[in-house]
Amino acid sequence: MSQEQWSSVDEYICVSMVESDAALEAALADSKAAGMPLINVAPNQGKLLGLLASIQGAQRILEIGTLGGYSTIWLGRALPVAGRLITLELEPHHAEVARKNLERAGLAQVVEVKVGPALETLPQLERSEPPFDFVFIDADKANIPEYLDWSLRLTRPGSVIVVDNVVRKGAVADPTSADPSVLGVRRFNEKLSQLRNVSATTIQTVGSKGYDGFALVRVLSPSS
Ligand code: SAH
Ligand code: DHB
Ligand code: MG
Repeated sequence: MSQEQWSSVDEYICVSMVESDAALEAALADSKAAGMPLINVAPNQGKLLGLLASIQGAQRILEIGTLGGYSTIWLGRALPVAGRLITLELEPHHAEVARKNLERAGLAQVVEVKVGPALETLPQLERSEPPFDFVFIDADKANIPEYLDWSLRLTRPGSVIVVDNVVRKGAVADPTSADPSVLGVRRFNEKLSQLRNVSATTIQTVGSKGYDGFALVRVLSPSS
């Protein structure tokens, strides 16, 4: 099994069942033209996020890690007309590109991009926002455990939390790893194992983005 094969199967899947359009393509093209890293979710992963948010019946979504807003478009499209999505981004330049991409996708009314370190913007949300139904955690990996804590404070029983990049080419299972991202994911997993009020699993994935995976967490009851 090779990266080449994973990519060609992803390509086949995307051609077969993942419809793209001008707004999604332009979001990727403009992110690339702006010199931003090409680390957005793959199209079939973006569609999965949208499907999960729809299945959840989400009306309020929180995203941590906007980049150019590619995943944000998939999530925003899963919302009802009166829905709301808040997405948190550290880099002002990323946020600026994302806002344009979201505007072009017709989501400017639904999505708000908040700029700053997420650990500074998340506490503001606790004061100003009702609970979120769905959270997508996809920013700096070393802080995933803190983002889980905040997500639990900002959600309700029944909410769903998805966390990207939690397998890291398999390095997550290496207890000797000193990689801050791996340590972040391992600390997240330890936290999860201590929590009695969530139900969670992780699925390994291969595809155009290599070998990685995502975690799916359901909030069962209020945090104590
Ligand atoms: N969700 C996007 C990809 C996000 S890439 C998509 O799939 O399309 C990760 C993003 O998180 C980058 O834009 C990076 O600037 C941002 N980021 C990194 N550290 C952060 C922090 N402390 N707070 C908020 N955003 C952060
Ligand atoms: C990176 C970040 C991501 O969110 C991702 O999906 C892939 C790679 C990165 O920081 O390299
Ligand atoms: Mg990611």
